[in-house]
Amino acid sequence: MTRLAVLTSGGDAPGMNAAIRTLAKLCAQRGVELVGVEDGYEGLMVGRFRALTLRSDGKLRSHPELDVLGNQGGTVLGSARSKRFRTPNGQADALAQLAGFAGLIVVGGNGSLTGAHALAQATEVRIVGIPASIDNDIGCTSTAIGVDTALNTIVEACDKIGDTARAHRRAFVLEVMGRHSGYLAMAGGIAAGADGILFREQGRSDAEIVRAVATLVTNGFTRTDKRRLLIVKSEGVEIPCTRLVREVQTLVEQEIGEVEVRGTVLGHLVRGGHPSYQDRMVAGRLAAAALDAVGRGLSDVMVSWLPQQVSGGEATDDPAVFRFSLDAVLSETAALLDGTSAVTQWRVKMLESVEAALAL
Ligand code: F6P
Repeated sequence: MTRLAVLTSGGDAPGMNAAIRTLAKLCAQRGVELVGVEDGYEGLMVGRFRALTLRSDGKLRSHPELDVLGNQGGTVLGSARSKRFRTPNGQADALAQLAGFAGLIVVGGNGSLTGAHALAQATEVRIVGIPASIDNDIGCTSTAIGVDTALNTIVEACDKIGDTARAHRRAFVLEVMGRHSGYLAMAGGIAAGADGILFREQGRSDAEIVRAVATLVTNGFTRTDKRRLLIVKSEGVEIPCTRLVREVQTLVEQEIGEVEVRGTVLGHLVRGGHPSYQDRMVAGRLAAAALDAVGRGLSDVMVSWLPQQVSGGEATDDPAVFRFSLDAVLSETAALLDGTSAVTQWRVKMLESVEAALAL
């Protein structure tokens, strides 16, 4: 094994750079050249490569820019959501560019791992995935690179909104990213001491959601002496934040008179920022295990962090890291999103059981 490639793809996630830095350092130590692919599969199809290990005095070392950028959010390699890569021509171009590489490590989420699986079916080059997505919607892993930092950002934002909410005795709906997964809203909302959490997996209609939030606000301001009411909404809950706030405001005013309800959409703010310690640590250990998998000649697999409620993972030298076939990862990911996974069912059940307590 003399030459490997790495790419980051899909939505960037804080900690991707820490994974790249670990790969570059370990490759350099093992005498393996590491090449970065720019802009995910988009760059792979046209061979947009950049050296991540440099040779001097006959020895390899990691690129010095990684010493600084390894600690930053985003991805030093750039990322993309490539439509052309999903076509047979796009995949043929990508495969042609992989000639000369022993392996490709793909750092990304659901779409990126789907692409990795497709490539692995068609090449001898070893393809290994590392889960990275703030949404925590990847199957067979309890977390992914970026989740912890995103949660810290959400909790900090909730605390800040709470300060101003309390000053004015206001209710706030705070919308957070997560695409079809309510995990960020659930975990962030509980950690921030929110009064209510709205997530798609609950399957409520818009009218039910408006009614539930209005009841929370009415009860909160009449039956308790709360000065802040905070409802964390996942972006997967389709009713737009502005409409939700307007309709709740109208209902609450009819019930208890004048009350101020405001909305804030955190949007891409949640995806940026310096990675937390946990994301750097998880990124480093997953990267080391991915390199190990390539070294063992494995392909079409993903390394995973402390998988829960799922069987079939293979242990690695790291007690927290397991390996799953990409096939298993992709079916469990689909189950997470359509609600048939035991993990989603547990999350919904747990949230429903604490819902009443949150409002107290
Ligand atoms: O998958 C990560 C994520 O940030 C989702 O939470 C969000 O729905 C989506 O990406 C936004 O993607 P884009 O930046 O391409 O609009």
